[in-house]
Amino acid sequence: MPEIAENGRTWLLSGPTSSYALHLTADDELLHLHWGPRIALVDAEALAVRPLPDYWPFESPLDGREEYPVEGGARFVRPALSVRTSEGRGTEWSFEAHETEDDELRLRFRDGGLAITLHYRMRGDVLERWVTLDNDGPAAVELLRADSATWTLPDRDGWRLSQLHGRWAAESRLVRSSLTYGEKVIGSRRGHTGHQHLPWVALDTDATEERGEVFGCALGWSGSWRIAVAQLPDARVQITGGAGYDDSGLLRLAAGESFTTPVFAGLWSDGGFGGASRAWHAYQRAYVIPDADQDRPVLFNSWEATEFDISEEQQGVLARRAAAIGVELFVVDDGWFGARTSDRAGLGDWKPNPDRFPGGLKPLGDYVHALGMKFGIWVEPEMVNADSELYRAHPDWVQHQTGRKRTELRNQLVLNLAREDVQEYLWGQLHELLSSAPIDYVKWDFNRCFTDAGWPGEADPQRLWVDHVHALYRLLDRLRAAHPGVAFESCSGGGGRIDLGVMSRTDQVWTSDNTDPLDRLAIQHGFSQIHPARVMAAWVTDSPNTQLNGRASSLRFRFVSAMAGVLGVGGDLAEWTEEELAEARDWVDRYKEIRPLVQRGDLYRLRPPEGGLSAVQYVLGGEAVVLAWLQAQHHGEPVPVLRLRGLDPTAAYECLETGEVHRGAVLLHHGLRTGLRGDLDASVIRLRRI
Ligand code: DGJ
Repeated sequence: MPEIAENGRTWLLSGPTSSYALHLTADDELLHLHWGPRIALVDAEALAVRPLPDYWPFESPLDGREEYPVEGGARFVRPALSVRTSEGRGTEWSFEAHETEDDELRLRFRDGGLAITLHYRMRGDVLERWVTLDNDGPAAVELLRADSATWTLPDRDGWRLSQLHGRWAAESRLVRSSLTYGEKVIGSRRGHTGHQHLPWVALDTDATEERGEVFGCALGWSGSWRIAVAQLPDARVQITGGAGYDDSGLLRLAAGESFTTPVFAGLWSDGGFGGASRAWHAYQRAYVIPDADQDRPVLFNSWEATEFDISEEQQGVLARRAAAIGVELFVVDDGWFGARTSDRAGLGDWKPNPDRFPGGLKPLGDYVHALGMKFGIWVEPEMVNADSELYRAHPDWVQHQTGRKRTELRNQLVLNLAREDVQEYLWGQLHELLSSAPIDYVKWDFNRCFTDAGWPGEADPQRLWVDHVHALYRLLDRLRAAHPGVAFESCSGGGGRIDLGVMSRTDQVWTSDNTDPLDRLAIQHGFSQIHPARVMAAWVTDSPNTQLNGRASSLRFRFVSAMAGVLGVGGDLAEWTEEELAEARDWVDRYKEIRPLVQRGDLYRLRPPEGGLSAVQYVLGGEAVVLAWLQAQHHGEPVPVLRLRGLDPTAAYECLETGEVHRGAVLLHHGLRTGLRGDLDASVIRLRRI
C-alpha cells in the first residue's frame, strides 16, 4: 500500500528492497524525491523539505526534478506531456486529489477540460507507471505527446547507459556506453516495436554482473514508441518514454474521449545487472506473462525445413519424426492457406489451401494429436498480399493515402486495423479457423513496417497508429477468451515485436530468425537482460546453417544453445539420419529434465558470450543447471573454470552427469571445470543438493 504523509502531499511506494517517493509543492509542482533503496516515510518527508537549487534565470530548478514534466512555464526539458487546444499549447495543471486503491496510487490533476491522472503501482520491486487523460471539456484536445512516465535518477557521477539494439536476424544485442550531456533517443517509428531496439534501458555507474545499483525501465507498447535518456546541464539524468515516436501528434481526443498510456515499468536493484534481470524475470512471470507457472512444450516448427513448399502428407512425415524425438507441439508455419505458395500471394485469405489440405487442417491436427503432440499453425493477420481474395474485395482496407503509391514490402500491405470492419473480418476468420480444427497454438507474425499510414475519409487519420495496437490487443484478448486452450506466440520476422505489452497477451515470443547457435548466444544474452527464458523460443536447425551464414556446428552445440530458452526443433527432420534423430531424442529428454529450472528458475549469467567460454546457470530450489559454450580454444590455453552462483555454500551438490560430489563453497569460490575443448563445444551440467 502506498504511504501518505499527514499533509497529503508526500507519497511513498515501497517494494521488498526499494522505495519510490514524490512530493507536491504548494504551487502544485510534482517533484520526484527518491528512487532507490528502501526508505521510510520520514525520510521522504525530510527530502521533501530540502530546498531546490537556486538556478534562475537560465536554468530551471524544476528541470530534472519533476515527476512528469508538462510543456509550458519555466521548463526546458523534453516534455512528457505536450497538448494543443484551440487556445494554444502547453499545460498548467492544478492538483485535485489523490486516491489509493489496493496497491495503486492515483494523483489527479486538471487543466481546464483536461483531467490528467498519474498512476503508480508497485509490484515486487518493479514500479508500474502510466497516465490517463480524459477530455471532459467541450472541445477537442490534441495530444502531441503523452508519455507514460518520466524517471528521475539520483545524483551520481559517471552514468552508463545499457541498451539492446539490433536489426533483422541480429536482435537484442547489449551495448553499454557512458552517458554524456544531451539526449540519447531510442524507439521505433515503424508501427511495431521493431528489431532495432527493445523498449528497455538500464542506467548504472559502476555495477558489475552481480553487484551495484542498476535502474531499469521497460515500456509495454507494441507500436511506435520512444524513450529519451537525457543528461541535463547539471548532470542530472531523466528518462522519459511512451507511445509514438514523433512529437507531431499522438492522438486527438474529442470531447468526452480518454486515452490511457501504456505502462512504463521501472526497477531499481542493487544486485548488479544479474540481480536486475532476475527481478525483471520474476516480475514478468508473476504479473505479465499468462500462465507463467506452466512450462512451455518442446515444439517443432516447419519453416526452415519446408518453407512454402508444404503438403499434408509431407507435414505428416515430419510430425512422425518430431513425435519420435519427443517433440510436444507440432507447428505448421507459413504456406498452408489461400494461394500462399510463395510470399507473393494469399495473405489475408485464412482458409486452408484446398490442393495442399483437401480436408482442411483437421485431418493433420487429428493426426498430430494421435501422435501425442499438440498442433499449431502460423498466421499473419494484420497483413494482406495484393494478390489475394481479400485485397481484391477490399482494396480500401489497407493503410494508404489517396493518390499515393501503396508501398509493398515482402509483397505485402498493412491492413488498417483501426477500422472496425477489418477488426470484425479478422475476428471472424480467426475464430472460424480456430473452431475448424484442433488447433492449440498460433504463431502470430508481422512481417513489415508501416510506410503509408493513411486512412482516406477519416477525419483523424493519425489515430491509426495507436488504434492499430489497441485493436491488435483486443483481437488477441477476444481470441484468448473464446479459445482459452490456445497459446499464442508473438513473432515479427523474428524479434520485431517483443515488449511487455504483447507479452501480457502471448505465451512466448520468437526471439530471432537467426537460428545460428553461436550468434544466438549474443542475442539470448541481450534478451535475458529483461525477459525470462520462459518466453524465449529457440530452435535447433540444420547444419550448415541454411538461412544465414552456412556455419557448421554439432548437434550438441545447437541443442545446448537452444536449451537456454523454450526448446524447439526447426531442422528438416526428414533429412536427419537415424543417429542424429537418436541423439536429438536424448537432448530433448535432457531438456525436459532441466526445463523447470530453465523456464522458472533464477538465471545467473556466468560469463558473457564474447569469444572464448560463455555460460549461464539456472537455479530452482536445491537444483542447478549450467549450460556452457566454448566458441574457440586458442594456444592450448586451459579453459577457465566457472564460478557458480546462487548455491548454498554449506551444502554438497552431486553432479548428475559425472556422479561427482562438490562442496557448494568450492563451486562458488573456486569454480567448476567444464571439460570443454576445441571449437564450438558445449555442455549441460546438472547439480542436485544432497
Ligand atoms: C518470419 C518468421 O520470423 C519466420 O519464422 C517464418 O514464420 C516466416 N516469417 C514465414 O513467412
